[in-house]
Amino acid sequence: MKNKRSGKIDLGVNVDHIATLRQARRGLYPNPVEAALRAEKAGADSITMHLREDRRHIQKEDIYNFSTLMQTHLNLEMAVTNEMLDIACDLSPQDCCLVPESRQELTTEGGLDVFKNIDSIADASQRLGDQNIRVSLFIDPDFHQIDATLKIKVPVIELHTGTYADATGATKEKELQRLAEAAYYAHEQGLIVNAGHGLDYQNVAPIAQINVIKELNIGHSIIAFAAFEGLDQAIKKMMMLMSEAQV
Ligand code: PXP
Repeated sequence: MKNKRSGKIDLGVNVDHIATLRQARRGLYPNPVEAALRAEKAGADSITMHLREDRRHIQKEDIYNFSTLMQTHLNLEMAVTNEMLDIACDLSPQDCCLVPESRQELTTEGGLDVFKNIDSIADASQRLGDQNIRVSLFIDPDFHQIDATLKIKVPVIELHTGTYADATGATKEKELQRLAEAAYYAHEQGLIVNAGHGLDYQNVAPIAQINVIKELNIGHSIIAFAAFEGLDQAIKKMMMLMSEAQV
């Protein structure tokens, strides 16, 4: 790739799916705040939590609780709504990433259409920026969207890597090229460039090689990997407790 990275690439760990598991029973565990603190101890550079309008995983208390305990910083992902803007302005996380949201989707399905919704996104960004919150826009690797973002004057973009992650064969190469070109273009225009969505242990390396990308935000694959890595120990511990109870 073009030039050498100055400094390491950061990892922002998204703990939403620890909360997905907790919400399956509407109970107290597994606790995403505990997961976030463990991720920090393991070396995560930041923690991402997406407070969705339907509260399907992260709850409002999670972001407030984590904010009192965190050692790194919170990247709050949220939709452009008045409710979310009020919460963000009250909490004042270091970073806010604005994303499109629809109740029907399983997960974030694409980037913001900054071009079409420039007024509402500009107003929201201004409100957050006035609170010294660093605003990031989650966008597809598309020059029109980058140009629209430049008009708003936010400091950061997060490039949507989901299409790359889902693609196969020659299309995957094309998507990688599209991401690299968008990342270099945005970087040359002075934007801080992050990326994320759908990144896993098989597809992360070519993205991490795009040396202008500052941070990758990764959640689902890390939580899924952790579940399997811990499964043997979890079973052995339960069996030990059962057999100890019998003596
Ligand atoms: N970045 C953004 C903006 C997202 O919406 C998500 C998913 O919540 C992620 C990164 C993390 O995606 P994944 O869970 O697929 O790693």
